[in-house]
Amino acid sequence: MKVLVVGGGGREHALVWKIAQSPLVDRIFCAPGNAGIAREADVVDIGAEDIKALVAFARDNEIGLTVAGPEAPLVAGIVDAFEKEGFKIFGPRQHAAALEGSKAYSKMLMKSAGIPTARFKIFNELSAAKDYAEAVDAPLVVKASGLAAGKGVYVCSTVKEAHEAIDAVMKERIFGSAGDSVVIEECLRGEEASILAFMDGHAIFTMESSQDHKRAFDGDSGPNTGGMGAYSPAPIVTERITRQVERDILVPVAYAANRDGCPYRGILYAGIMITHEGAKVLEFNVRFGDPETQPVLMRMKTDIVEPIMACVEGDLADIDILWDDRASVCVVMAAGGYPGKYESGKEITGIEEAEALGDVKVFHAGTADAQGTLVTDGGRVLGVTAVGETIEAAKARAYEAVEKIHFQDAHYRTDIADKAIGR
Ligand code: AMP
Ligand code: GLY
Repeated sequence: MKVLVVGGGGREHALVWKIAQSPLVDRIFCAPGNAGIAREADVVDIGAEDIKALVAFARDNEIGLTVAGPEAPLVAGIVDAFEKEGFKIFGPRQHAAALEGSKAYSKMLMKSAGIPTARFKIFNELSAAKDYAEAVDAPLVVKASGLAAGKGVYVCSTVKEAHEAIDAVMKERIFGSAGDSVVIEECLRGEEASILAFMDGHAIFTMESSQDHKRAFDGDSGPNTGGMGAYSPAPIVTERITRQVERDILVPVAYAANRDGCPYRGILYAGIMITHEGAKVLEFNVRFGDPETQPVLMRMKTDIVEPIMACVEGDLADIDILWDDRASVCVVMAAGGYPGKYESGKEITGIEEAEALGDVKVFHAGTADAQGTLVTDGGRVLGVTAVGETIEAAKARAYEAVEKIHFQDAHYRTDIADKAIGR
């Protein structure tokens, strides 16, 4: 079978790497891919959001399965478009993808299904939003409802900050129509974790847990980023928490989606806060996490095409997924300045030396090939991922690998996985 992976970041490199190991797959394409993906797949010069061109490519190349990595094409209806033409594609249809595409929709669904989440209110009008922020008082969280590349969330410790956030989203409209409505919600306290599950519309298969590091600098300081590193498993996610997440969150989503006539098929990513009252949902994503996918897939022993196909065909209940008992840690090497302004085009060296250490895979997130030289081409550049007998060993090996890799102004956190080690 020929497989097409849509996207071009670290998550997609991990997906390509894992899918390429499947005996069911004889050729793999990635659109648009990156320089690292190009070493393991045929990269295709089509943007991840150019749905028409992707459908045409699938037709011309007899693609047997397409896997969409990022949220934007899913929210824009790539699954509906492929299915309409009779092509197999993994992911939720547009209506179900609104769980990520509209935080307002997502919160309403959670409320109607009794899913634990922060108390909230939705506003379409600026002054009403400001009045409410004043009435409930800080701390509170202001969220642009639509897609904002992970930047639309403001955790505000004063009402003034909340008013500034509401102005930025609704008046200055820095996220465009994604700011047509805002969600204002209670600030939850606790530790965050990510739970990803395969879903086929009926059955659910929960993957091993992971934890992202969203802030730019050590000690969870600095601005929010797309994710500076991740590890798996997350010891805070005990067996009891996993069962609670399945019972109180995943099963009710599957039920509510079916009730609303849009069965949920694909990956459901629950970003949770583990509070003293148990796990509560911070957000849903409708796809694999980036960078959580890198350490989670390093630990997946089963051929990933089996559960993916089972979700597409609706027989996930027959599938088991086996995991490596070892731990995995992914350290993101970013361009200096990220998530603010940064430069691209810096030569990258040392990846082979890093991988030669063993138990290391360097996933490319933002890289390009400049006439035979590997250069940086994005904010997050590499996801240096290692496995080890313990989380400490995996962390040590990941940082040993990071030390081998060089590009000008490289920035990375030095404390990835420390929360797990502290436990
Ligand atoms: P989201 O994109 O909704 O996951 O939000 C991004 C980040 O904002 C999360 O990873 C949390 O760190 C934080 N956050 C979101 N919602 C809340 C909340 N209700 N309480 C506290 N922190 C939150
Ligand atoms: N790691 C956070 C995300 O994928 O949205």
